[in-house]
Amino acid sequence: MTTIRRFCCNDLLRFTNVNFDHLTETFNMSFYMTYLARWPDYFHVAEAPGNITMGYIMGKVEGQGESWHGHVTAVTVAPEYRRQKLAKNLMSMLEDSSDKIDKAYFVDLFVRASNGPAIKMYEKLGYIIYRRVLRYYSGEEDGLDMRKALSRDVEKKSVIPLKRPVTPEELEYD
Ligand SMILES: CC(C)(COP(=O)(O)OP(=O)(O)OC[C@H]1O[C@@H](n2cnc3c(N)ncnc32)[C@H](O)[C@@H]1OP(=O)(O)O)[C@@H](O)C(=O)NCCC(=O)NCCS
Repeated sequence: MTTIRRFCCNDLLRFTNVNFDHLTETFNMSFYMTYLARWPDYFHVAEAPGNITMGYIMGKVEGQGESWHGHVTAVTVAPEYRRQKLAKNLMSMLEDSSDKIDKAYFVDLFVRASNGPAIKMYEKLGYIIYRRVLRYYSGEEDGLDMRKALSRDVEKKSVIPLKRPVTPEELEYD
């Protein structure tokens, strides 16, 4: 049985099993606390009986004018719980908050260019590669900035791909 609920402070003490994954970044405590305090609707955990963390998503909403958008900061599922649509459901909750509550124009995220499984998943969920960000990860690996337009972006202007790659310094938000 899976429960999806809002992430809370105590979940920070039991998500190590998920964060062991090399593609999952671990931030400092104040980073997580800021997200919990400012964007609680964007932070959810999927839990198995016995308070076992199966996966979680954290994100935020930011931007000005037509750049007002939801952002996926992290989405991750422990290896033993993958391919059960957990990430899909977590992404759908974040997209719903962005679309229906915050009336954002799009949702975006960054993914390592080498992270094939995640890119496939995002494409399956309707995301497109908006632009490539050169050496976004530790000054080494390129990142892909992927986007999905929401209902407010009637003309789908937010998902017209950029023709050239950008550098991290050119990003409006990170
Ligand atoms: C990427 C990740 C979050 C996917 O989680 P998940 O719960 O297994 O994904 P879902 O079950 O919701 O997958 C939904 C769809 O995405 C696609 N997908 C997911 N994982 C895939 C994979 N490994 N290979 C190809 N397609 C994949 C499939 O189309 C899948 O639907 P299907 O199972 O019916 O074919 C998970 O593999 C993970 O935690 N990876 C490590 C952390 C990471 O890379 N996070 C993203 C960083 S940007």
